[in-house]
Amino acid sequence: MTIAIEVHLDGDAAAKMARDVREGLCAYPKEVAPKYFYDERGSLLFERITELPEYYPTRAEREILTTRSAAIHAAAGCPETLVELGSGSAAKTRHLLSAMRDCGSLDTYVPVDISEEITERTASELVDEYPGLKVHGMVCDFEQHLERVPHGSGTRMIAFLGGTIGNLYPRERHAFLERIRALLGPGDHLLLGTDLIKDKARLEAAYDDDAGVTAEFNKNVLAVLNDQLGADFDLDAFEHVARYDTEAERMDIRLRSRADQDVRVDGLDLEIHFADGEEMRTEISTKFTRERIAAAYDGAGLELRGWFTDAAGDYALSLAAPAG
Ligand code: AVJ
Repeated sequence: MTIAIEVHLDGDAAAKMARDVREGLCAYPKEVAPKYFYDERGSLLFERITELPEYYPTRAEREILTTRSAAIHAAAGCPETLVELGSGSAAKTRHLLSAMRDCGSLDTYVPVDISEEITERTASELVDEYPGLKVHGMVCDFEQHLERVPHGSGTRMIAFLGGTIGNLYPRERHAFLERIRALLGPGDHLLLGTDLIKDKARLEAAYDDDAGVTAEFNKNVLAVLNDQLGADFDLDAFEHVARYDTEAERMDIRLRSRADQDVRVDGLDLEIHFADGEEMRTEISTKFTRERIAAAYDGAGLELRGWFTDAAGDYALSLAAPAG
């Protein structure tokens, strides 16, 4: 069969969100995980962020894939299978698939995404665009089901693009890279997208644009809590805050309460207090250097094997393989 898509969505997602959010709101300082930004409205707002003049990472990554896909594919030893974590509409992926086709190695694409609808649509488009391509997708939360991702055939490249690894705390990042390492057989590679350290003003502008789209995106997490957990957050009572933490080398994104206020979360049977000026973290976005990525790989039994940046040096795609 040309297209096969497995679905591993457990009814557990709502319960997990309730647990997560309760823990985060009851902690001090308060925190909500960035994965809850992305309901339909949040995903549309993120799409708009990627087109903002201040937000360079998406364009930089696209530039690398447009100009260097053949070199990346060759450096990875011309694998037969491309696995993509968080594949979505696979817009940027087509550059990699085309490079694989052009050198004659393309066999299987394994899209892994949380949305069944997008994964199915992408699969049927791709089998039309790449004659003979097999698509063996999986609909799941790959943080939970990484080990069940289909193998495809031959050697593989596992791509994790977009810079999403920057959302993880060091401990989580380490655990994630170790799990990836365990999936990689001889000849397999990881292709990882990461934003790079640069001027603080540019970093902060990328996360606090003049049009206010990022502020709207950030506050949308409160709308998600209102919709999905019956909370009564007043979005206007919070302010978007985006600071670069030079020490930790990451953007630190928060919502600051504009007043002393109480918020009710019916779905959690919880009442929480925000002091005037109190900040709740909604996201970190870690920035890297080549040395830091090499060290992160090293700590997880991986080895840096390839390094590709855009012409401005703002963003990197790196290749890694099991060490040794
Ligand atoms: C999708 C996680 C890569 O960290 O730059 C953009 C999300 N947040 N603007 C990032 C985001 C605010 C983005 N990632």
